[in-house]
Amino acid sequence: MYIPEKFIIAVDGYSSCVKSTLAKGLAKELGFIYIDTGAMYRAVTLFALDNDVFGADDQINENLLRSMIDDIKIEFKINAEQRDTILNGEIVSGKIRSPQVSNRVSLISKLKFVRKRLVALQREMGDAGRVILDGRDIGTVVFPKADLKIFMTASIEVRTNRRWKEMKLKYPNVTFDEVKENLTERDRMDTTRKESPLKRAEDAKLIDNSELDRKQQLQVAIDLVEKTTEI
Ligand code: DC
Repeated sequence: MYIPEKFIIAVDGYSSCVKSTLAKGLAKELGFIYIDTGAMYRAVTLFALDNDVFGADDQINENLLRSMIDDIKIEFKINAEQRDTILNGEIVSGKIRSPQVSNRVSLISKLKFVRKRLVALQREMGDAGRVILDGRDIGTVVFPKADLKIFMTASIEVRTNRRWKEMKLKYPNVTFDEVKENLTERDRMDTTRKESPLKRAEDAKLIDNSELDRKQQLQVAIDLVEKTTEI
């Protein structure tokens, strides 16, 4: 298959739709750079936690965060097989998946100045050439002219089970209901926020992976790339 030097694939969808598994798999298969934009919002949330931006009842001190936003440096580095998220020089790949961050990330990702900063960074990263990004607003806002847009979904039960399995490895006491509640609340906040709400771009191809395993969904995506690049 011939893929042009510049080719952007946008993958959007709900939380725990294994978007990142698909995006990583596709990047490996096609030799693309993969950018996990959710990890960037998580890194800003961790930064906010570490710098006392959250007050009582998780009230956000927006002015404080705004004053520090340009000091936040986020990079991705590949070490052997592992991809690391680096926040101001520190590897934070583990910390950004903690419940403390997961429960607050929607509060941070709805802030206009945060989105503005991260979207600019994502566009810069996208300039690299053959790039695949996953997130919530990639096909609608970050790269509305992406060469291929994929929108992923799966039933809430399937998504909760996936995230629960993953969470239990680190947090054995977490319950199915807690995970379901966190996902439902994040979906609600992601789809109803004023700034760049999660929605399917009109020209995005839908993949519902409730009944697909990793290999099958990867094949569906490869077929989509092939169709898009067919002359
Ligand atoms: O994909 P994830 O679960 O790691 O994303 C974490 C949060 O970041 C998610 O609740 C929504 C937000 N997000 C966003 O608003 N825009 C993106 N492009 C990516 C993630």
